[in-house]
Amino acid sequence: MTLETLITDCEALRRRAESEIAAVTSMDGWTAVRTALVGRKSGELSKLMAALGALPAEQRREAGASINAAKQAIEAALEARKAELESARPAGPSLDLTMPARAAWRGAVHPVSLVIDEIGDIFRALGFTVALGPEAESPWYNFTALNFPDNHPAMDMHDTLYLADGGVLRTHTSPVQVRTLQSYAPPVRILAPGNVYRRDFFDATHAPAFAQLEGLAIDEGITFADLKATLAHFARAFYGARTPTRLIPSYFPFTEPSGQMEVYFDVGDGRGARWIEIMGCGLVHPAVLEAAGLDPERYSGWAFGMGPARIAMSRYGITDIRLLYDSDVRFLEQFA
Ligand code: PHE
Repeated sequence: MTLETLITDCEALRRRAESEIAAVTSMDGWTAVRTALVGRKSGELSKLMAALGALPAEQRREAGASINAAKQAIEAALEARKAELESARPAGPSLDLTMPARAAWRGAVHPVSLVIDEIGDIFRALGFTVALGPEAESPWYNFTALNFPDNHPAMDMHDTLYLADGGVLRTHTSPVQVRTLQSYAPPVRILAPGNVYRRDFFDATHAPAFAQLEGLAIDEGITFADLKATLAHFARAFYGARTPTRLIPSYFPFTEPSGQMEVYFDVGDGRGARWIEIMGCGLVHPAVLEAAGLDPERYSGWAFGMGPARIAMSRYGITDIRLLYDSDVRFLEQFA
């Protein structure tokens, strides 16, 4: 080998080494390339070193300098590539133009809230205002003032959760009737939304905590005809102008007579139109007016209580009440 060939080979090796090093994508590949290039026994550079010894003595200095320059360039390229591979970023493009854009999520109003708002609008237009009461209630407001006799089986309708201090978690929003009548003189027209609690199993039709919406109208001379007309107006405003309604007899200790309003409606569950119960109602029992400090000879009125979750189920064809309490965004975002 002549001096010129050796210098050309050095230059060629340096260029080939640089492209091989750049093409390496793993540490294993890097080690193999390093051995092939600068390995002590059979590396390409060692072969050039061996050729150096065969040159005339006066040419070795120049040849040696050439080999050294190639060695330094190759080692620097190896170190630089090693540092790149070791830094955490995986090899390959870091920008994936095929990745779908992140969806911009918009909040949705919960279907139970939608229903409460809509019912609120209908009754607000009739002059009703909103009243609230506590969820931790005394047994007097929850039962006694509402004409539940002590230990009467009617209490079985409400599997009560008792608090350590002798209070209860209210089993219905009806105690707000009494609290309101104690604070405001008639005429009273209020709507009382709020959560209530019952010792019930969580299944497709029952939840241990759920919203109720109470209505109360008290004045002089209010009759059952007012109740019927107002609730029928509500049902038609909510379910559609031609929706048939009916009242069937029911029982609550705090109303007399008591009824249950039903609408003939197709909830969209594939079973077609049928009578569905939407609320309990009745004329407020004289004993309740008395407990609240009103003269039942002078005042009368009516009340109703409904479950917005059940109303939402009828409105949107939801067949399992648990969907309304699971907070699954895939379900809830449909009501946006
Ligand atoms: N409080 C009753 C219940 O929880 C509903 C109701 C309210 C019935 C007002 C009549 C009048 O079932």
